[in-house]
Amino acid sequence: MPATAVVGLQWGDEGKGKIVDYLAERFDAVARFNGGSNAGHTIVVGGEKLAFHLLPSGAIRRKKLIVGNGVVVDLEVLLKEIDDLESRGLHPDLVVSDRAHVTLRLHRLRDAWEERRRGSDAVGTTLRGISPTFADRAARVGIRMGDLLDKDAFRRAASLLEGWNQALASGVYHEDGPSVTRDSLERAASAADGLERVVGDASSAACDVLDCGGSLLLEGAQGFFLDIDFGTYPYVTASHTTSAYAAAGLGIPPQSIKNVIGVVKAYCTRVGSGPFVTETKGEAGDALRKKGDEYGTTTGRPRRVGWFDAVACRYAVRVSGVTSLALTKVDVLGGTKSIPICVAYRIDGSTVHVPPSRLTDLQRCEPVYEYCDGWPDLRPEEWREAAQRGLKGLPPGVRSYVKKIEDLSGAPVKLISYGFERNDLLELSP
Ligand code: IMP
Ligand code: MG
Repeated sequence: MPATAVVGLQWGDEGKGKIVDYLAERFDAVARFNGGSNAGHTIVVGGEKLAFHLLPSGAIRRKKLIVGNGVVVDLEVLLKEIDDLESRGLHPDLVVSDRAHVTLRLHRLRDAWEERRRGSDAVGTTLRGISPTFADRAARVGIRMGDLLDKDAFRRAASLLEGWNQALASGVYHEDGPSVTRDSLERAASAADGLERVVGDASSAACDVLDCGGSLLLEGAQGFFLDIDFGTYPYVTASHTTSAYAAAGLGIPPQSIKNVIGVVKAYCTRVGSGPFVTETKGEAGDALRKKGDEYGTTTGRPRRVGWFDAVACRYAVRVSGVTSLALTKVDVLGGTKSIPICVAYRIDGSTVHVPPSRLTDLQRCEPVYEYCDGWPDLRPEEWREAAQRGLKGLPPGVRSYVKKIEDLSGAPVKLISYGFERNDLLELSP
């Protein structure tokens, strides 16, 4: 059976958690393959908000859960999320890759130290230690989940990390290295007990599902423009967010991924610093942020908001091989009379249709907007009633907006989310 990847095509917070939760019902297993606990995937069930940072959002559908080698695992978050599920009577059938790198307190501290060192060039990270953990992985001084289960392996890995971290702490950041390092490693060692039953070869677990004719849902974290290479570098996260990384970050064959669902919000948001061509400030921006409840799940920060960027979307669709789109939060745009949609960028007198790679170019791009007719601000019950009749039941403005996004991005819209609740979702038949 093929695998299906769900990836964000903007700057994260597109509503992937809800889409994954909805689709998970049809799959045997749900896996994460990138990022770490910087992710915040929110699901609303019966008015109750559940947020996952590390475990796949399929958790509450009682599916097999896999956390791949491409994820950096904060031990404290992992143990807490397992506990939370267990206290709800959900005993997760979970495998966390023995090759996944461990995020420790020292990584969270270094994240903050590095942000401070950068001053006005700070990335605006989630301070979850993500970039320092990936940096240590690349520097080959990291500790992997499997190391925690073997005293000799742990001692060896810990001594490499210890030397490196102390050199950075004292030499670069002028902070207290030894006590932080010692404390972090002690915490890691003591977490090992709770982990034996979940750490294993996640690649084999995922391949077994596929080989037995099962189906696998791959849950991407963050969004395309936070990708370490394709994002707005250096204002990006430290891992890959494209669909291709689902194979590398989990250990499954790339050709097993037959469907790629790209999740886009009907407008754009971004948290942290970095270029944002369609950003809308002032009253219109404030109203959109308030109506869309655009505050970070992980950090609570107000998100920057802006109009739909079809230049960015088309690029992400091509690179990630998106086979269909899930369009979320169309209800939030209700009541906007005329909705701008960015169809090209202007830079130094020329028009471009592909986002430039250079930060200094991207910062100078101006959006070229076309305007779409809006739709009324329906109440949740009105949306539900309208959606019962399928696409034709939705306001004409929504239908033409959907069509416009399909034409501009080159991918068909298959899912439309029009509210917070898990079932406020319309699936369009082919
Ligand atoms: P980091 O991933 O914590 O290093 O943060 C790097 C950038 O990615 C910052 O701008 C963060 O705000 C952003 N970021 C990381 N994870 C998420 C996410 O799950 N949603 C939205 N933005 C994110
Ligand atoms: Mg989020």
